[in-house]
Amino acid sequence: MAIKKVMVIGAGQMGAGIAQVCAQSGFDVFLNDMNEQALEKGMKNIEKLLTRSVDKEKITESDKSEALNRLQPSTELTDAESCDLVIEAVVENMEVKTKVFSDLDKIAPKHAILASNTSSLPITEIAAVTNRPEQVIGMHFMNPVPVMKLVEIIRGLQTSDETYQAIEEMTNNLSKAPVEVNDFPGFVANRVLMPMINEAIYTVYEGVASPEDVDTVMKLGMNHPMGPLTLADFIGLDTCLYIMEVLYEGFGDSKYRPCPLLRKYVKAGWLGKKSGRGFYQYEK
Ligand code: CAA
Ligand code: NAD
Repeated sequence: MAIKKVMVIGAGQMGAGIAQVCAQSGFDVFLNDMNEQALEKGMKNIEKLLTRSVDKEKITESDKSEALNRLQPSTELTDAESCDLVIEAVVENMEVKTKVFSDLDKIAPKHAILASNTSSLPITEIAAVTNRPEQVIGMHFMNPVPVMKLVEIIRGLQTSDETYQAIEEMTNNLSKAPVEVNDFPGFVANRVLMPMINEAIYTVYEGVASPEDVDTVMKLGMNHPMGPLTLADFIGLDTCLYIMEVLYEGFGDSKYRPCPLLRKYVKAGWLGKKSGRGFYQYEK
């Protein structure tokens, strides 16, 4: 099946990045969000990043305008009726995601593949609310999407080989590197990354060191490009907490318990860079 038209649902940091990369790779794209302001912000961010690439002479002015011409903002899920692939990137919450998939199943054409950019939630459970579980798959991009090469491709219990192959081909067409993983809590990326971030939060919570010093240890000692607390702020503390909860519940192992400080910050609305405050403060 040839994928030509794509809808990305959720115009937050991940959805906007995925839409940008798809448009730059020649696909026609709807960027959808239920929140008009978020949609506007997502579209503006894409334009800003493309302009920066032109300024750095990485792409030409005509590459930029061609990509922008392929991108259409959307607030109606019914726009999915003309799409071959839908990539969902809404908040990391099973109830919200299953509602989106059950609605999409009624709208998207029969041949369309429904993919989720979930960081940790079971693809099998998301697929079960549709009448096409063999065409549901995980397509887990990394943040920031235009920069990071990896896409974890997650097979649900019923995902067909045909669907897997179409998504693997699509990932290669986006100049990304696909890695196949099975449907297990946190897949590979977040099963390994998130406990490290959670442990870094515990070291602050227990007064072992300040956030700055924890980050310096991991940057200078382990050559990580960002310290774990800067990275947590960058990912979004709400997303980090959701992922830890999925690991904790999914494995039933106390080693995945989310740090109380992480819970406290999320309850306070300190969600990291996107809200202006997390372990650090940011200009809005
Ligand atoms: N969006 C798009 N592009 C961005 C960007 C952003 N938010 N931030 C930086 N870039 C681009 C810059 O434009 C620059 O591009 P060029 O090379 O074309 O000029 C390039 O990235 C390097 O940027 P900088 O020189 O400004 O900064 P840097 O060298 O410090 O790199 C970084 C920035 C790439 C983000 C780097 O700090 C990094 O790799 N950090 C770790 C990111 C990471 O671990 N991501 C995975 C998160 S976990 C995840 O995504 C899974 C999940 O489910 C939670
Ligand atoms: P975000 O909070 O930046 O954006 C989420 C967007 O979804 C918001 O704009 C919101 O208005 C929109 N939205 C919510 N419900 C919707 C609905 N029913 N229909 C349409 N739009 C809706 O979140 P994000 O960081 O972009 O994360 C999105 C997804 O990507 C999550 O599943 C997350 O786990 C995953 N993810 C995040 C990262 C990361 O580093 N942040 C990395 C990989 C995967």
